[in-house]
Amino acid sequence: MTHTFHVRGGRPLDGEITVRGAKNLVSKAMVASLLGEEPSVLRSVPDIRDVSIVSELLRIHGVQVDRDAETGTIRFDPSAVERAHVVDIDAHAGSSRIPILFCGPLLHRLGEAIIPDLGGCRIGDRPINYHLDVLRKFGAHVDKRELGIYITAPEGLHGTRIHLEYPSVGATEQVLLTAVRAKGVTELTNAAVEPEIEDLIAVLQKMGAIISLQTDRTITIEGVDRLGGFDHVAIPDRIEAASWACAALVTKGSVMVRGAQQKPMATFLNVFRKVGGGMEITEEGIRFFHPGTPLRSIAVETDVHPGLMTDWQQPLVVALTQAEGISIVHETVYENRLGFTSALNDMGAKIQVYRECLGGSSCRFGRSNYNHSAVISGAKALHGADITVPDLRGGFSYLIAALGAEGVSTIRGIDLIDRGYESFRDKLTALGAEYWED
Ligand code: EPU
Repeated sequence: MTHTFHVRGGRPLDGEITVRGAKNLVSKAMVASLLGEEPSVLRSVPDIRDVSIVSELLRIHGVQVDRDAETGTIRFDPSAVERAHVVDIDAHAGSSRIPILFCGPLLHRLGEAIIPDLGGCRIGDRPINYHLDVLRKFGAHVDKRELGIYITAPEGLHGTRIHLEYPSVGATEQVLLTAVRAKGVTELTNAAVEPEIEDLIAVLQKMGAIISLQTDRTITIEGVDRLGGFDHVAIPDRIEAASWACAALVTKGSVMVRGAQQKPMATFLNVFRKVGGGMEITEEGIRFFHPGTPLRSIAVETDVHPGLMTDWQQPLVVALTQAEGISIVHETVYENRLGFTSALNDMGAKIQVYRECLGGSSCRFGRSNYNHSAVISGAKALHGADITVPDLRGGFSYLIAALGAEGVSTIRGIDLIDRGYESFRDKLTALGAEYWED
């Protein structure tokens, strides 16, 4: 059921909240459990909808999943992995892109895999061509049929050399999850090296995989015949942490984000500091606060790690509406991740979007018609409006804008935020926000 969410803005958020494991690691570690001959345990799992979706997908493939949402612990028993029907996979996948990552593990366990039409946030074309190319390189046959894509590997999968034309997170994970049990050595160049990928490598190593990561984006995987289980505490969610940091800034408040870690957030912390945001980094977490002096404009571009994450971009843009002067944000990871700015303009922001690559290097979208650069003029007072959540991060960004705006905002489609932000309503209450739902 979808709810309409109302926020009375203009109050500083003040207090503390806790972030648990990263959505973008947890879902992949859950898939990794399929590769093991023994049970696995994943800890610090947030209670978000994507975790429920992957749990159901594992269950329909015969994995026993015992989840304690309160402690954030999930136990997986993959001893009876079986085929699932494409209609069931489609029904359980919801809007998630995770089924594509089941392919490698299922090919090893069952010799075949099926992928239905894939969803995910509408922030660009989001094709799966890299994934299919990777699977073919390992020796899989890819057959596109009416109901979905059927993938088989009658002769098994073998190690290979793969060069990614772009360091895609998902394609790198596809290689890892497939290569660990393929025959022989796989060398992947131009790999994504996000902290969540390093954490997935740690999970696979606990299971018995042999993986080395070089400093030049090369990952070498020596295939093994058999993998066991893992017991792993997921890396904290640095996207959620940065989202609350931006909310602290926009509402002129102070939010202690327990669980936030400095190292995986280093690039964000640099930007936050340059904008003028205050922070106190401790062993328990990071307190983000508005310093009481005007915020400063900045020119940034998103990039793969160690660059500024694209998922930080949307909350950051809301913060930049409150900075003095002209800020420039060049989105280089997704071609269509600035559409959410038009509703911010309805709330009083002044953001213009351009097709050109502004403020930095030219990117692969430079010769296309995608509005992927934003010029933000600030500081502009925001006022309440009636807005509809466009995608997960854009939705949370609207929430931030509404919290910082004068008057009441109505946010439609708020349930989308449950996909990736654990108990955000309880956290808003803990921070003193005023909201109600109908
Ligand atoms: N791409 C292709 N072909 C492919 C795969 C990707 O052209 O086969 C393109 C994409 O269209 C995009 C770029 O490559 O322009 C990068 O996509 P990537 O594969 O790195 O993204 P992803 O694996 O689909 C994950 C996260 C995203 C996050 C990106 C980038 C998950 C479940 N999703 O997506 O997270 O933005 O990496 O860091 O891990 C979110 O959490 O809200 C979210 C969208």
